[in-house]
Amino acid sequence: MSDIERIGVIGGGLMGSGIIEVAARAGLDVIGIEINADAAKAAAERVEGSLRRAESRGKIDASEVASVLGRMRFETDLEALADRDLVVEAASEDERTKLDIFAKVGSILTSEDAILVSNTSSIPIVKLGAVSGRADRVMGVHFFNPAPVMQLVELIPSLTTSPKTLDRMRTWVEQSLAKQPIDATDRAGFVVNSLLVPYLLSAIRMYEAGYASAEDIDRGMVLGCGHPMGPLALSDLIGLDTIQAIGHSMYSEFKEPLYSPPPLLGRMVDAGLLGKKSGHGFYPYEGK
Ligand code: CAA
Repeated sequence: MSDIERIGVIGGGLMGSGIIEVAARAGLDVIGIEINADAAKAAAERVEGSLRRAESRGKIDASEVASVLGRMRFETDLEALADRDLVVEAASEDERTKLDIFAKVGSILTSEDAILVSNTSSIPIVKLGAVSGRADRVMGVHFFNPAPVMQLVELIPSLTTSPKTLDRMRTWVEQSLAKQPIDATDRAGFVVNSLLVPYLLSAIRMYEAGYASAEDIDRGMVLGCGHPMGPLALSDLIGLDTIQAIGHSMYSEFKEPLYSPPPLLGRMVDAGLLGKKSGHGFYPYEGK
């Protein structure tokens, strides 16, 4: 059985709030960290909203919602993470932000055994380990959106991660979270995004070049290939800023043109059209 009981999640955005929900529903004591009180309130509301939706669909009852909410709290100071067995960093996909967090949290954790992981999609895990002062207890643990629904978790040890850390994270993912891990190596994109991101960027290029409407590109992949949603709707779900950041990291590592974000994606991000989370992307979501 996993020895992880107290966890911290840094970042309460789309992925962070999903990971907080998954961990609290697994019975763990969870602290979510956000940058200020407003962001912390928004993250708490996001998790509660998701739990209430699950309740309204009969997947969880009201008393269970209350006990899940009772197992989580939100803070704005990283020092609150001192007693954690595990900290999952799910901040925005920006290398400098993540390096800063790993340097700080590496020295805040008091237990020698505490593990610090990143939910990054593409930033080198080895660099995060190097600044943390505990490189053998740092690795990538990558969830998929929506985290409460998606079964997969990628496990990414770096060159400096110890076998014991990898074992403890595998046990945590399989036994505490009841999710299914696959092993990946520390290369930008890991397994899933190395396949998914060039596909999404190709769909955006296709739309940009006027091959077909957004609706028809998406219907093509849903009806023709049985995907649960088309590539432009999926881009909106993931967040266009996140896809752009992952594309940049993958392109800077491999110099493969297919990983390079097309101009339209950059223009949409500059315009604040970030997808579902901002209310508009390839499709409108206001009021939904
Ligand atoms: N939180 C919790 N549960 C959710 C949810 C959310 N945000 N969204 C959907 N669900 C649940 C619903 O409650 C429902 O559960 P039940 O059937 O048990 O009632 C189930 O998921 C299906 O939901 P819906 O009927 O509302 O909608 P759907 O059938 O269209 O499914 C979907 C929605 C699960 C998002 C589905 O379209 C899907 O699987 N899409 C693909 C998602 C995907 O590819 N994710 C990976 C993105 S890549 C990534 O995350 C990594 C990265 O680094 C970029």
